[in-house]
Amino acid sequence: MDLGLKGKAVVITGGGSNIGRAITLGFAREGADITLADIDERQAGHVAGLAREAGAAATEVIRCDVTKLDEVQAMFARTVERCGTVDVLVNNVGWDHFAFFTQTTPELWQKLIQVNFVGVLNCTHTALGIMAPKQRGAIVSISSDASRQGEPREAVYGAMKAGINSFMKTIAKENGRYGIRCNVVCPGVTIPDASEMGEHSMWVAKDMMFTADQIAQIAKTLPLRKLGRPEDTANAVLFLASNEVAGHVTGQVLSVSGGYTMIG
Ligand SMILES: NC(=O)c1ccc[n+]([C@@H]2O[C@H](COP(=O)([O-])OP(=O)(O)OC[C@H]3O[C@@H](n4cnc5c(N)ncnc54)[C@H](O)[C@@H]3O)[C@@H](O)[C@H]2O)c1
Repeated sequence: MDLGLKGKAVVITGGGSNIGRAITLGFAREGADITLADIDERQAGHVAGLAREAGAAATEVIRCDVTKLDEVQAMFARTVERCGTVDVLVNNVGWDHFAFFTQTTPELWQKLIQVNFVGVLNCTHTALGIMAPKQRGAIVSISSDASRQGEPREAVYGAMKAGINSFMKTIAKENGRYGIRCNVVCPGVTIPDASEMGEHSMWVAKDMMFTADQIAQIAKTLPLRKLGRPEDTANAVLFLASNEVAGHVTGQVLSVSGGYTMIG
């Protein structure tokens, strides 16, 4: 099925590792023109090469920390200079550090707030300024099933992701009149192979997050009895980014988590 994404200017934050990497390669197979905005230029450069092999119309890696508004604005300005516009923004960057709330510090809260929430505000605000005058655009933000029900050891992370769900609904209501659709995808646990992540991936500290036993247990408790692959989330992002197949879908929060949460 042609998703109509060929040649579209797509910005993917954190496009170098794991889920972002799969999203980049998914858009590449659709022939999109991809900007990878990542703090890890080496890993993003590697994935950009894979994206060109997979069929991307073009790729550019821009080193950009999404928590810094000036870097975000420069990254979007460069993309507009190169592509003329931004058709799709995927707010994929996120970061977590598992700990019970009573064992966390204000410094950790600030990092979780900045990376998971302020980064989305910075990118969305800048992208809307480009999309609204063009009367078109799609924004997909990656949240988490941790936003949909309390998740031990992820109190602040889950709260920021719940903030994204609410923020994106409001943005969808405010910007539908400009032809801009805004949706959210909530992955469940999705663990990369070593070859699918760079040094800034939170999964470098995988052993701190889950033991091998816990990973097996999580899979057993899911209705589909398996963990998700990065491609599962990427496929949902491609659907929501496409005006051909999701042109009347906005303000939605879609879980891709093997049935972990089922929200009516
Ligand atoms: N993997 C999971 O189990 C899971 C589950 C639910 C939700 N999520 C969400 O999915 C998204 C992707 O997760 P992942 O597991 O692929 O992450 P990851 O840590 O493997 O990769 C994150 C990417 O973002 C880049 N990055 C980190 N901080 C950045 C910053 N400040 N500015 C720019 N780039 C930055 C990293 O270099 C890396 O390429 C995140 O929003 C995460 O919260 C992941």
